Amino acid sequence: MPALLSDTDFRDTHVFIAGGSSGINLGVAHRFAEFGAKLSICSRSAERVEAAVRKLQDHGGDVFGTSADVRDYTQIDQALQEAATRNGPIKTLIAGQAGNFLAPALGMSANGFKTVVDIDLNGSFNVFRAGFDHLVKPGASCIAISAPQAIHAYTFQTHVCAAKAGLDMLCRGLALEWAPVGVRVNTIIPGPIEGTEGMKRLAPTEEMKKHVAKGTPMQRLGQKSEVGDAALFLASPMSAYVTGGNLPVDGGVTLTGASRMNEGMRQAFSSTSQNRA
Ligand code: HXC
Ligand code: NAP
Repeated sequence: MPALLSDTDFRDTHVFIAGGSSGINLGVAHRFAEFGAKLSICSRSAERVEAAVRKLQDHGGDVFGTSADVRDYTQIDQALQEAATRNGPIKTLIAGQAGNFLAPALGMSANGFKTVVDIDLNGSFNVFRAGFDHLVKPGASCIAISAPQAIHAYTFQTHVCAAKAGLDMLCRGLALEWAPVGVRVNTIIPGPIEGTEGMKRLAPTEEMKKHVAKGTPMQRLGQKSEVGDAALFLASPMSAYVTGGNLPVDGGVTLTGASRMNEGMRQAFSSTSQNRA
């Protein structure tokens, strides 16, 4: 048993990351690459996947990339099969994909709401359902990337709140069903993370970013690598008895309400092109 996370050997670990071509998930991929893991990433855009694969390889990563839309079971099933053929059984399976835009419920069509639920919630079911057969059993760790929207109601985020709250409960259900075969399932709840698409959409100006940062109990935005560190922990034997959990990496944001972020999002909504109301 390793004494420290830094003693953990990830060289035999195949990590599959849905939505791994950008942002937080690519940051997570970089952290696993630094620890020697074999990586597979997928997302819809082949160009983004190729660019991410190149970046990871430039840093010495052993990485396979393929394009797939998690909303289409056949596509994600095939991506997982190809990844397992190339890199072997999957030890860590991460559902990190998401969609988000600011919209009041009354400014959103049924398809707008459904699109986000399909990507974040139904897509994660597809990733874990199709991935199960390829998991190392016992010993695999499944991780979903959730959000503070799973816990607090955020304005103009009904679709994301519903999807991420559902995602947390999906993961608890899977944790319960898969514990007997040695598969753990947890979520990570990132707070506002610097330099990401999510922040660009929810806090698009420097002023708004500062406002959000000051509103976190730790008074700063998080880093992608800090989410990566939490994923390393949940993937390692250091968390062998941890399942059905929700690990915040949020500087304390989920300890507070959503009012500060809501204030910022109202401003962001009235000032950006996302506003279709
Ligand atoms: C109202 C909108 C809208 C908007 C799209 N729609 N944008 N409705 N306001 N701003 C509606 C469309 O009109 C359409 O409905 C439906 O949503 C689907 O839109 P498409 O463009 O056809 O969908 P698609 O190409 O599948 O793209 C999905 C997407 C897009 C979610 C709309 O933004 C995307 O690909 N996002 C992925 C990247 C992303 O969002 N990253 C941020 C994750 S951050 P109709 O009725 O017209 O057909 C996150 C948490 C952040 O999740 C937390 C920070 C603290
Ligand atoms: P991002 O860069 O836009 O990441 C989302 C990824 O998902 C992209 O690589 C995207 O690539 C992929 N994706 C979207 N729809 C997909 C689909 N249908 N099938 C497959 N892949 C799909 O955004 P981010 O801000 O880093 O967010 C990453 C994760 O962190 C999300 O789960 C988000 O909810 C969560 N989060 C973010 C923050 C934050 O501060 N940014 C805070 C809390 C939680 P393609 O376009 O190529 O498909």
